[in-house]
Amino acid sequence: MKLVIEQDYAALSLAAARFIAGAVVEKPESAVVVATGNTPIGAYEQLALLQKQGGFDPSRLNLFQLDEYLGLAAGDSRTLWGWMDRAFIQPLGLAADNVVRLHCDTTDADSTCQAYDAAVAAAGGFDLCILGLGPNGHLAFNEPPAAADSNTRKVILTEESIVSNSAYWGGRDKVPLQAMTAGLAQILGSKRILLLVSGAKKRDILQRVLSGPVTSDVPASFLQLHGNVTVIADKEAA
Ligand code: PGA
Repeated sequence: MKLVIEQDYAALSLAAARFIAGAVVEKPESAVVVATGNTPIGAYEQLALLQKQGGFDPSRLNLFQLDEYLGLAAGDSRTLWGWMDRAFIQPLGLAADNVVRLHCDTTDADSTCQAYDAAVAAAGGFDLCILGLGPNGHLAFNEPPAAADSNTRKVILTEESIVSNSAYWGGRDKVPLQAMTAGLAQILGSKRILLLVSGAKKRDILQRVLSGPVTSDVPASFLQLHGNVTVIADKEAA
């Protein structure tokens, strides 16, 4: 894993935006899976600025949702699709119709997840995964313990994820208890992975991810086995 340490969150965001823009320039039709969560928000803002400066054209990207709560109505303000739309799709002026989604209101999560994996396979795997790091070491909603070969599937959120997600929605009672997540198999099959980590509260888990044992108890530790991972962390996290 390549670790890039930036001075602060603003520098992390700019470095991440340049990384993503570089990947798009290299392959404009890249299959890209886009994390939500707080960490990449600054990077997406910077990315939109880079685009306005004419730095790259994201219009041909083949975009995928990374994860989604299960059991919310389609228009619910808490959906991660809504977050992706507000933070990434709209600022870049992209078409929402082409995104491969995990629909929160599906009545058949297994089929939804299988269709997602078929779309990932049809794209030849992800070219770029943009990921945040959960306080429990999860990637997307691959909650510990998660096997490296786990496919996209329905999951029950852990207490730690419910608590950390409650910060997004103003209370733990607002956090759905189930979700769908891109599988570790699909994530680890990505040609390139960008992991963004910010803040002192991620310091211990980042240490375990970078140099602890590779274990399903810390799903992100499987990144140690991948040949092309860039971790951009700010000083507080690193
Ligand atoms: P965060 O979430 O970016 O809001 O810290 C990361 C995650 O839980 O995967």
